[in-house]
Amino acid sequence: MKALLCNEFGPAEMLTFQEINAPEPKENEILIKVAACSANFPDTLIIENKYQFKPALPFSPGGEVAGLILKIGENVKNLTVGQRVFALCGWGGFAEAVCVGADRVFPLPDYMDFVTGASLMYNFGTSYHALKNRAHLQKGETLLVLGAAGGVGLAAVELGKLMGANVIAAASTDEKLAICKKKGADFLINYETEDLREKIKEYSQGKGIDVVYDPVGDKYAEPALRSMAWYGRYLVVGFAGGDIPKLPFNLALLKGCSVVGVFWGQFSKLQARENFENICELAQWFKDGKLKPHIFKKYSLEDSAQALVDLRERKVVGKAVVICDEELANEQIEKSIEPQKTKRVFVNIQDIKAAVGEIIGESPWLKISQDVIDGFAKATFDEQWIHVNPAKAAQSPFGSTIAHGLLTLSLSPKFLGDIYEVKNSKMGINYGSDKVRFLQPIKVNSKVKMVAKLVEVTEAPNNGLKMKIEGTYLVENNPRPVCVAELLSVIY
Ligand SMILES: NC(=O)c1ccc[n+]([C@@H]2O[C@H](COP(=O)([O-])OP(=O)(O)OC[C@H]3O[C@@H](n4cnc5c(N)ncnc54)[C@H](OP(=O)(O)O)[C@@H]3O)[C@@H](O)[C@H]2O)c1
Repeated sequence: MKALLCNEFGPAEMLTFQEINAPEPKENEILIKVAACSANFPDTLIIENKYQFKPALPFSPGGEVAGLILKIGENVKNLTVGQRVFALCGWGGFAEAVCVGADRVFPLPDYMDFVTGASLMYNFGTSYHALKNRAHLQKGETLLVLGAAGGVGLAAVELGKLMGANVIAAASTDEKLAICKKKGADFLINYETEDLREKIKEYSQGKGIDVVYDPVGDKYAEPALRSMAWYGRYLVVGFAGGDIPKLPFNLALLKGCSVVGVFWGQFSKLQARENFENICELAQWFKDGKLKPHIFKKYSLEDSAQALVDLRERKVVGKAVVICDEELANEQIEKSIEPQKTKRVFVNIQDIKAAVGEIIGESPWLKISQDVIDGFAKATFDEQWIHVNPAKAAQSPFGSTIAHGLLTLSLSPKFLGDIYEVKNSKMGINYGSDKVRFLQPIKVNSKVKMVAKLVEVTEAPNNGLKMKIEGTYLVENNPRPVCVAELLSVIY
């Protein structure tokens, strides 16, 4: 396969485009055919051996990819060959294929193209974590973003506006600031030609800044810290400017402000559930058209070193993206590849036993209309207004009626029937469930499906086989499950 390689540490001009052997996934890894890989600031450091992670030579830069799964390591159970995914690989992404630990791989929603998939998580994940979890940014507060046209900076501008803040964008050129304006910035400061403190005073009407988002450090940090409002939060995000500022501690005392560290990579590992929630919210905003990564330029894999040169030279606004597979990256999202949905056929009981631990399949989507909900309400004498009264339910936090949790569970025999069959058996009964967790409500007219994993088989009396299947119920365009249940079946 083709890849951009770092054979010895040094600037991007030393990288070479060459043919190498395709990697093989280890037991907990998957191999991804890379459609697109974005360039991030750490890529410019890692090739010069100046980053916290130091891969062995030779290696390819590129830490954020989207593509299709080609192969799966033997211990990986929750992903399938052919699935569309995005992943944080650390390095190795400027190549036609890359191996990634399965815990750093996420399903790509079917409404998202590969270029967006390779451009969203790192910048928006960092900035959302910073503004939401670290600064607790409130509606109406004033947010100053330094390096506002860079990758994480522009994401912070866009998110700050979405969260209801007054956003002041600061960057080094008027061209960059014009893009910040398009992304919603209320005020602009060219910190190369204007006095940062004076402008902040003017735009905040003397009150100062509630939240500073600082991915640059260097000479801009001190004037920004001196401009904080009472109880302000100064977010330390990065040091793209080069120098790590050494600031007088008394400023925090005088301003009554907090200096808050942001380390999204660590947050995503230590608080994976909260991070996943953030990613889901970001994906939903993307789907609703409320945010969109700004793509500065697309580079071919052959020309991908130039993306790192442009980043280093402060030319990139938003994201620079390397296209590693033209055809995949240009794929229309309507044509997106769905995992195969043919029925799994077990020929006998031995065949079932051999499948323990495997995902045995997924059902087609099923729409939960109001008629379906009404029918269930009647049959179970559960006619609570949240299920059957659309006008009243529209005023609820859900904005519509929702399906009964037990309705979802009651679909299990149908879904299992869609997913597998057992040849040469006399009888099979889906008779119950164990350990059910209802995780999210299902709004009326949502499409639901089940992914089934065979977790355990045990002998049952009269030569039967008891199967425990973990059913994960999903609604369309939302990677978070709505329900997870252990389902019990017996086969004779
Ligand atoms: N803490 C975390 O979890 C986290 C996560 C992601 C990134 N980061 C860090 O955040 C920083 C920015 O990352 P990014 O991906 O947004 O980078 P980027 O796209 O290159 O943006 C950095 C911005 O910094 C400004 N800058 C000022 N002096 C610079 C210099 N000497 N070289 C390069 N840029 C300079 C540039 O804007 P102007 O030309 O307008 O000044 C540039 O747009 C990096 O230090 C990165 O490591 C931290």
